[in-house]
Amino acid sequence: MRKKIVAGNWKMNTLPAEGVELAKGVVAGRGEVCSCVNFIVCPPFTHLAMVAEALNGSDVALGAQNCAAEAKGAYTGEVAASMIAALGCKYVILGHSERRQYYGETSATLNKKMEQAYANNLTPIYCVGENLEEREAGKHFDVVKAQIEEVVYNLTEEQFKNLVIAYEPVWAIGTGKTATADQAQEIHAYIRKVLADKFGAAAAECPILYGGSCKPSNAAEIFAKEDVDGGLIGGASLKAGDFLAIGKGFAK
Ligand code: PGA
Repeated sequence: MRKKIVAGNWKMNTLPAEGVELAKGVVAGRGEVCSCVNFIVCPPFTHLAMVAEALNGSDVALGAQNCAAEAKGAYTGEVAASMIAALGCKYVILGHSERRQYYGETSATLNKKMEQAYANNLTPIYCVGENLEEREAGKHFDVVKAQIEEVVYNLTEEQFKNLVIAYEPVWAIGTGKTATADQAQEIHAYIRKVLADKFGAAAAECPILYGGSCKPSNAAEIFAKEDVDGGLIGGASLKAGDFLAIGKGFAK
């Protein structure tokens, strides 16, 4: 049985006090959703300590949105994986399309970040996905395959057992356009096959989340698909009620 996960990527939103309120709202309503759903919130770095306190005693996990490629030292403005782990993070989002696109993150950088994440007992939520041009040219399978081969294929079998993948088509992120449930299933099944080519049976245990304008009204249909194990939620994770309602989308 694969883990069911609903992870909130708050991106660069909320002030610290607002983030604490949001986290408290998630904790307060969490009991209304099946305990089989694993909720994760990923606030900005500046809120991690305060949000960790708000989550204390609950089963809502904490994640960060990024970490540095280096362990420590003279890297002004960077935040090390050891630092976020020390604040209670269990997860770290790596390779989000906004990081790839706006901050020039390449597979080379991401390999180092993955290494840092594992060295600090963090579970990476590794993001893959094609842009609109690539989708229209029918290249989406090749794009995600390369993103997996260049990074995930470098993991050991042990590390792979501790990995979450998020498929996020760039054209669906923050645009209100969602991939159809069938489109999601098609590419999730493909991703699982690419993972199985390298890691064999362990690929059947790897949670693959869908991301891109996922909301309460479409989550159930998407999550009903066999190879969709939950969602990485941007906009709709900023309201506790919507975020929790997405978790209710699991019927299986
Ligand atoms: P969105 O973002 O839900 O606002 O489309 C998802 C993401 O980028 O993780």
